[in-house]
Amino acid sequence: MELTAAQFAKLSKLLYGRLGILFEEKKIYFLNKRVELRVKELGLASVDDYLFQLGYCDAGGEETQALANLVTTNETYMFREFEQLAGFANVCLPEVIAAKSEGKLGRKRLRIWCAGCSSGEEAYTLAIIVREVFPDSRSWEIEITATDIDENMIKLARAAVYGERSVKAVPSDYRGHLIPAAAGYRIRPETARLVRVEKLNLSDRLQMSAMRGYDFIFCRNVLIYFDDESRRKVVNHFYDALNAGGYIFLGHAESVGRITSAFRLKRADGHLLYTKD
Ligand SMILES: C[S@@+](CC[C@H](N)C(=O)[O-])C[C@H]1O[C@@H](n2cnc3c(N)ncnc32)[C@H](O)[C@@H]1O
Repeated sequence: MELTAAQFAKLSKLLYGRLGILFEEKKIYFLNKRVELRVKELGLASVDDYLFQLGYCDAGGEETQALANLVTTNETYMFREFEQLAGFANVCLPEVIAAKSEGKLGRKRLRIWCAGCSSGEEAYTLAIIVREVFPDSRSWEIEITATDIDENMIKLARAAVYGERSVKAVPSDYRGHLIPAAAGYRIRPETARLVRVEKLNLSDRLQMSAMRGYDFIFCRNVLIYFDDESRRKVVNHFYDALNAGGYIFLGHAESVGRITSAFRLKRADGHLLYTKD
């Protein structure tokens, strides 16, 4: 089975509209393999039948979901892009906690959104950092909302059990948050408890409009798969979802300033940070 150029164009347009992800022509082989799996699974006769089904008979979104589970890139590990996490731990988190403690930024509640969490390593990394750098955290209401579109990743994120590859960059002082388990390591329940995992499509306007009141938003290594227009839409939603005084973190390769001028660039302690005034 081979996708023709016209079929590829149709498919990539559908995926772009529904997921925000832009598949360039060099991805034709990658998509070809995934479509082949779906055609077989559904017992369809041809790619055209599949495209018809996906395009016109998927009001409930089940087939879009099944394809999304196959086409997303899920690479992740704990304490990835350490420098940014250091900025969060050393500058932003203490600042927001201090402002909230003084009653400047609302009650003693801290909310973090980890968008595009994949199998959850990033969300549990944030939970470990909060537990480690914030001694008073137990007397606060803390919630880390981890979201992804891929249902297979959501299952893994909820299970919170990781192999050696996922935990290799965890600093030795923080290893106490990992409990050896048959399949690798389990996140200690007191730490894992801070994380709630939900399914969310960053390109779904309604779902995104419901996300409000976050002090920190992390969306790292996700928007690299989007084009400028869909990136801008997502980041505008993030702006609305963030509390004043909150911070946004995109990956190293994705500059907030290049996408929008809505956030204020702040330099502190050698870190470049983006905050909402
Ligand atoms: C490379 S992983 C990044 C994981 C983690 N943030 C990190 O930096 O290690 C990208 C994740 O974004 C998710 N993703 C891609 N498009 C999405 C969309 N439209 N809505 C929600 N999640 C999406 C993928 O399923 C994947 O798990």
